[in-house]
Amino acid sequence: MSHNEFNWGRSMGAYFIPRTYQTGSIFQKRCLPEGYTVKFFNSQVALFRQVTSTNLVAKQLGNDGAPAGTVVWSQYQSAGRGRLKRHWDSPPDRGLLFSILIRPKINIQKIPLLTLLTAAVTAEAVNRLSNLSVGIKWPNDILINGKKLCGILAESSFYRNEADYVVIGIGINVNHERSDFPAEVQPTATSLRLELGYVGSRVRYLQEFIRVWNMHYNQFLHKGEDYVREIWIKHNITLGREVTVLNGEQSIQGKATGISSYGALLIETPGGKIYECMADDISLGKEYYR
Ligand code: BTN
Repeated sequence: MSHNEFNWGRSMGAYFIPRTYQTGSIFQKRCLPEGYTVKFFNSQVALFRQVTSTNLVAKQLGNDGAPAGTVVWSQYQSAGRGRLKRHWDSPPDRGLLFSILIRPKINIQKIPLLTLLTAAVTAEAVNRLSNLSVGIKWPNDILINGKKLCGILAESSFYRNEADYVVIGIGINVNHERSDFPAEVQPTATSLRLELGYVGSRVRYLQEFIRVWNMHYNQFLHKGEDYVREIWIKHNITLGREVTVLNGEQSIQGKATGISSYGALLIETPGGKIYECMADDISLGKEYYR
């Protein structure tokens, strides 16, 4: 079944298993149909060998009425999407590529906070399992030793000023060898395998992500934006540094001093002006991925 034919109601009826599936061998079971759904903690996880983009499938499920918490996980994406209209390329069976569908009752201005939350959750989950020191480069790149381990892309559908659903896509480089990365990102990308020296279990990383996500997302719903800022700051490597904002042809330099209530990076320029950086890319200097 291609993702275009994917029908949430039919899939749930046909493939839903009402208990936690023990996951180690999921992808060795060659007979599993595309869209087969398993349960990790409280999340329904729809499994695919190949899709265009897990974000696209999750958005389609969002339009079809799939419940909040639904996760779409694929072993390969033929058209993986990155921030700022870039591609996200990852060879089959190397990366952990998934998207989570949520339906928070929040104003659209607060949606960027969800990517900060996701970055903090990912950093915590990766750190718990690998013991590696991971840091967040604003807004949501996860770096190890200055190289990019993970990217996050949020896409939303809203009605008037309120989110109908938000899809957050996460790509973690788990088992990549250096040659698995496109040539242009080889110097600036890394994987858990390259950092740890052994092959990791993508299922375990997904399970840990979902466990940590449930904990922090519920806290965010109760406590609001200050909670997100608190956990993001705990894992960030951006604040206090001199940064360069890359805004098309223009660039602005200054010190990253804080995060606004909507998730913008606050930068103090040498002239003392505070610049609110929202959709741009930033550089932390030559030792860091940009
Ligand atoms: C970035 O540019 O840093 C964001 C990359 C996000 C990639 C992930 S992989 C799973 C999900 N599906 C996509 O098409 N993109 C996100």
